[in-house]
Amino acid sequence: MTKPGCSTNNTNNDNRDLPPGSLNVLQLSDPHLFADPEGRLLGMRTLVSLQHVIAHINENLPSIDLALVTGDLVHDASPAGYTLLKKQLSNLNTSTYCLPGNHDNSKILNASISGNPINSPFSIQKNGWSIILLDSNLPGSTKGHLDNIQLTRLQACLSDHPDHHTLICLHHHTVPVKSRWLDTIMLNNADDFFAITDCHPQIKGITCGHIHQSFEAKRNNVLLMGAPSTCFQFAPKSTDFEIDNKSPGYRQLTLLPDGSIITNIFHLNNFTYSIDRSSSGY
Ligand SMILES: [Fe+2]
Repeated sequence: MTKPGCSTNNTNNDNRDLPPGSLNVLQLSDPHLFADPEGRLLGMRTLVSLQHVIAHINENLPSIDLALVTGDLVHDASPAGYTLLKKQLSNLNTSTYCLPGNHDNSKILNASISGNPINSPFSIQKNGWSIILLDSNLPGSTKGHLDNIQLTRLQACLSDHPDHHTLICLHHHTVPVKSRWLDTIMLNNADDFFAITDCHPQIKGITCGHIHQSFEAKRNNVLLMGAPSTCFQFAPKSTDFEIDNKSPGYRQLTLLPDGSIITNIFHLNNFTYSIDRSSSGY
C-alpha cells in the first residue's frame, strides 16, 4: 500500500495548545463496502480507499478519542459486508460508533456490529459532551426520515443531559446544500427535527454524511457540517448527479470543554483510482 499524503481545508490542525479535556473525534462517512472485498462502486474498489484512509489516520492523527461512521456503511447491506467493515474499523484502534444510511439495513447493521470497541449506540457521554447518533434510514427510499422513535429518543437525551455540550450525527443533511439532485434526497422532516433542537441551546454541532463532500454552515449558532466520503466525492452545487475530482477523505473534529468545535477536512494525496464518471447514479 502506498503511503497517502493529505490536504486539509484549513490550518487549525495543531492541537498542542488545546485545553485538557478536549475530545479528538474522527468522522468517516459513506464507505460503501460490499460483501465481496473486490466489490466496486462506479469502478472504484471501496475497500481499498477505506484502507488508505485508515492508514492515513493512523500515521497522522494518532491521538483520537473516538470515531464516528455516518452511514452508507455497506452498499449491499449484507451481513458479510458489515463483518468486513468491522474488521477494517478495528484498525483504527479507538472506540468507533456507527449509524445507518440509506444504503444500509438498520437491523442487519445492529445485529452485525455490536460490542466494544465498535458499536452502534444511540448516544455517548464523554468529557462533558453528548454525542447523539440518529437513524434517518427510510426503508426503500434514498431520502431520510426521523421516525417518532428517533425524535422521542432525541428529545429525551437532550432533556436528560442539559449541561452537556452536544454534537448530533445523522446520515442525511438537514438543510439544503445547494445541489439540486442531493437536496431532493435530504431529510424529509427536517422541520420536526429542528422543532426539537431549537429548544436546546446545548447543541453545538450537527454533522452528516450522504452528500459525499465537505459542507459547513451556521444555523442559529449551531455549526452544520457534512463529511466527504472515504470513497468518491460528489461535485458541490451540481444540478444533476456528478462526481468530483477530489480523492477519499474524512473530517476531524476537536470538541473543546467550552463547547466550541474546531474541525478540519482531509483528503488523500497521491491516491490514484479509476472511476466511471459517465454514470448517472450510484
Ligand atoms: Fe453515500
